[in-house]
Amino acid sequence: MEKNRICQLFGIETPIIQGGMVWCSGWRLASAISNAGGLGLLGAGSMHPETLIEHIRKMNQATDKPWGINIPLMYPEIGRLMDIIVDEGVKVVFTSAGSPKKYTQMLHDAGIKVAHVVSSSKFARKCEEAGVDAVVAEGFEAGGHNGREETTTMALIPQVRQATTLPLIAAGGIGSGQAMVAAEALGAEGVQIGTLFALAKESSAADEFKRLCTSIEEGDTMLCLKKISPTRLVKNALYNRLAEAEARGADADELREMLGKAASKRGIFEGDTEDGEIEIGQIASAVKTIDDVATIMARLKAEYIETKNRLAQ
Ligand SMILES: Cc1cc2nc3c(=O)[nH]c(=O)nc-3n(C[C@H](O)[C@H](O)[C@H](O)COP(=O)(O)O)c2cc1C
Repeated sequence: MEKNRICQLFGIETPIIQGGMVWCSGWRLASAISNAGGLGLLGAGSMHPETLIEHIRKMNQATDKPWGINIPLMYPEIGRLMDIIVDEGVKVVFTSAGSPKKYTQMLHDAGIKVAHVVSSSKFARKCEEAGVDAVVAEGFEAGGHNGREETTTMALIPQVRQATTLPLIAAGGIGSGQAMVAAEALGAEGVQIGTLFALAKESSAADEFKRLCTSIEEGDTMLCLKKISPTRLVKNALYNRLAEAEARGADADELREMLGKAASKRGIFEGDTEDGEIEIGQIASAVKTIDDVATIMARLKAEYIETKNRLAQ
């Protein structure tokens, strides 16, 4: 994607955003993306406030390029995180999992650019009302927590494009320069990528997690836990227990109990590939190697240019 509104908004060279990801996107991953010309995001969702401060300071040492922080708004100590972000002089915040109304003004007052993640046109319109600077529309293919409506990226992006004039970033299932061109054709001006970068060398996810996710086939991830928070998971032993319980109508409390404490930390960070949550997107089945960020970014850019040239002929 050429330099456009998303590049101008965030001051980046190429409109590739690394999605904030619990247990994956600390300063190492996020700074590598920013240093390669994209926008790296620290994933605050899995950080205690003190850990976030440490990562912000390391980030400032690791890159002089623009970067930001992703905050799921359901975070228990959200007020404290927002204070840290303002006090530490962070310039960009991507919010998700909640209403953008509450914090956008406060962040703008502190000179911070705000993007919000949605999974429907209805919520994209709410973003516009809340005054956010850009919207990320994330389809059903994506890793991590997901929309209830199961709208795929292919169906979602053109509808969100119709619903709002905001700068639009497409997410969900994007794993190549070809997919970036497709997202652009559908009306997006940037892409947010999670799965590919969760499996990069610089990601803080466990090696066992990366090995499992780079060995799965199409159909090996499924959306589950709609009664709590819809999440795309690899079909491991934990998933099988949850799916069986859901099929017999287990309620949210029973599902929570089956998950136990810190299920995503167990799966993603500690590498418990059987009894932890292995959150990853559908496009993982196309990822077969664990590469560094510079290699992935160079491939995406080269494929994007090649595809544009091919289509122009
Ligand atoms: C392991 C993992 C953890 C994630 N954690 C978060 C998170 O903390 N906050 C958030 O807004 N999105 C989260 N996501 C979603 C990503 O930011 C991104 O939007 C998504 O992965 C894009 O789709 P893709 O996986 O097909 O590339 C996560 C995704 C993955 C794979």
